[in-house]
Amino acid sequence: MKNKTILFLLCSVMLAGACSRRESAELPSDLAERATLTGREVSGAFMVTIKGRLLEAIEEGGPVAAIRVCHEDAGGITASAAQRAGVMDLRRTSMRLRNPENKPTGLDEIAWGHFNDPDSDARQEVEDWVTVDPDDDDRVVYYRALRTIRLCTTCHGSADQIPSEVRVALAEHYPDDRAVGFEEGDLRGLLRVDLARASLEESL
Ligand code: HEC
Repeated sequence: MKNKTILFLLCSVMLAGACSRRESAELPSDLAERATLTGREVSGAFMVTIKGRLLEAIEEGGPVAAIRVCHEDAGGITASAAQRAGVMDLRRTSMRLRNPENKPTGLDEIAWGHFNDPDSDARQEVEDWVTVDPDDDDRVVYYRALRTIRLCTTCHGSADQIPSEVRVALAEHYPDDRAVGFEEGDLRGLLRVDLARASLEESL
């Protein structure tokens, strides 16, 4: 009996500890809402621009020429979006990478689980998610799911969807390419926007 009481007390203390930690990492709802709106704006602009440039490049020079867009232009668009007030960083990542430089952090992996079940690839009905960077309280991180649409399968689809000249070019630039075999609707990657907490608070 006595042991049970001690165990109960011990559990309560541990749970209380866990709860307060969780609370400190959570965002107040007005701040979360502001971060979501800013994140949606920035990521929306990125997606519209990159899709437009991809289509344009494919039309003008074919899909091999468009490979450059997903590499160089993505960097350029990312840099210009990051100049917006409060945006500290903007990047793309995935659990199945083409460019190893885009490799996911621990937080990115947790985010992936909010959009897709990591064990089964089953889709979760969530398109964006905000959280605080556990390594830096001043950073609010916004994630947006990048789902595969038909346009993407030219370079990320199955072998019969990717034109042979594109396969050759990809093999040349990305020898460890794992970003193929995606079907329409699959989670291809995440767009991550890091926002300065102080700027968000100022704009409330
Ligand atoms: C013309 C070919 C092409 C098309 C079309 C294309 N991509 Fe890519 N994608 C690439 C290349 C090349 C890279 C590697 C970029 C780099 O070097 O950073 C890449 C990288 C990515 C990454 C970064 C993670 C990684 O694997 O390195 C994501 C996310 C991504 N693409 C999503 C998409 C989505 C979503 C679409 C459709 C809207 C799309 N791509 C259409 C060629 C393409």
